[in-house]
Amino acid sequence: MTKRSKWGTNLGFLLAAIGSAVGLGNIWRFPYVAYENGGGAFLIPYFVALFTAGIPILMLEFALGHHKEASAPKAFRHIDRKWEWLGWWAVTFVLFGISLYYIVIIGWCANYMFFSLANSWGSDPNTFFFEKFLASSNSGVWDINGFRWPIVIAVAVIWFINWLITYGGVEKGIERAVKVMMPLLFVLTALIIIWALFLPGATKGIKHYVTPDFNKITDLKVWIAAYGQIFFSLSLGFGIMIAYSSYLSRDANIFKNSLIVGFTNSFYEVCAGFGVFSILGYMATRQGREIGEVVDSGIGLAFVAYPTAISLLPHGNLFGFLFFLLLIIAGISSTISIIEAFTSAVMDKFELSRRKVITTICIIGFFGSLAFTTNAGLSWLDIVDHFLNQYGLITVGIVEALIVGWLYRTDKLKAHIVSNLGLSGKRHKVFDYVILQLWMYCIRFVTPIALGIAIIHSLIREFGEPYEGYPISGIIVLGVGWILVTHIFAFGLSGLPWRGDEPEEKK
Ligand code: ALA
Repeated sequence: MTKRSKWGTNLGFLLAAIGSAVGLGNIWRFPYVAYENGGGAFLIPYFVALFTAGIPILMLEFALGHHKEASAPKAFRHIDRKWEWLGWWAVTFVLFGISLYYIVIIGWCANYMFFSLANSWGSDPNTFFFEKFLASSNSGVWDINGFRWPIVIAVAVIWFINWLITYGGVEKGIERAVKVMMPLLFVLTALIIIWALFLPGATKGIKHYVTPDFNKITDLKVWIAAYGQIFFSLSLGFGIMIAYSSYLSRDANIFKNSLIVGFTNSFYEVCAGFGVFSILGYMATRQGREIGEVVDSGIGLAFVAYPTAISLLPHGNLFGFLFFLLLIIAGISSTISIIEAFTSAVMDKFELSRRKVITTICIIGFFGSLAFTTNAGLSWLDIVDHFLNQYGLITVGIVEALIVGWLYRTDKLKAHIVSNLGLSGKRHKVFDYVILQLWMYCIRFVTPIALGIAIIHSLIREFGEPYEGYPISGIIVLGVGWILVTHIFAFGLSGLPWRGDEPEEKK
């Protein structure tokens, strides 16, 4: 049996876990999701989702990985052999789904980092992005045509960087890298936010960001958006947090670590929103337009609205360079965690060498990413992202809460968390009885019910109209197909015999 890798320090683990959580989802997804769903009022469902699903599931994943010292498939197999597939499915659809297009978006950022230096988008960033850079205008899902070579080259470089970091292992590769990347990320973020806050018109943007529209929070869609954001942003249901905590020292404090990671991630994204909206406020002011006219949701925010602002800003070139560099660093600290979650699972089950696994994953991953670098790449990315986020991550969240809550008995994990609380006397008792009791209720009832409502609501909408008006063939092949194929792959992997230390079921 190969010796399990370990983090050098608890700080190394925290930086890696925060690095996984903080990603593209925080910097440009959160601000527009918040804006579209009630601005300041969105923070109510957002924090309810953080406390009822985000932190409870994060604590569950940390506790499970740490207690079992296992990756996701092995940890679930410990509970019952028939749940091994869930772990495989999570790490498979995340690696061979989410990371494939996530790295393509980082590749766009790499191109845009250099475009910023020369304002390559000229006076029309919209036409530049869709027609020149992606060349996707008017092309449908099946108008593949050919590869966009600048994107292919960037994607190759990003996969290579991922390979370089993960090849070194947990302590010498990932931990070493995040100790450089995360401080740099925080400094760059602070710099950009401060720069943005002092721009003329910033307050106009911030007002739009935080002004609550309380009517919105009676809409179920807003609540679903909040749960979806929390899941993606905290990397829950990815199998990552299970693998990462399995490398922690035996006396690690799971409770404290969960709170630190959960709150840092939310603090980061709420702050990022101030930066993004300050820039939009500045842009609206300079152009004499309303904020509503300059806010672009989704992909357009980073690749259309921001370039416009960069062109208007004094020293905009430097600002743009730093902003896209920030996105690249945040993105890579997330993708290395996705690669590690799968690697850890393969090493646990098949006892293969890390280096072989990493190299194989990165080569296959690069070729997989190519699917999103053609003229149809944008629509492929949009469909796959929608289905894997709405159904993949949330399904894993529901099933893991149900398995741990009802099959394994949450009190066992609770006992594990409590054993390392590092408190004594009365304070220990209060934590034990009140806080962790609440956690158990969340895992058993609140989380599965809330996520269940979200998924049913999304399914009903799916049958009502095809997502974003895409042709049914695209939805079925790319959306449903991606879910089915990764499922089959996961079942296949869980059916193979164990070469590594086969876990016994311990209820
Ligand atoms: N948690 C990562 C993000 O927010 C995947 O981008």
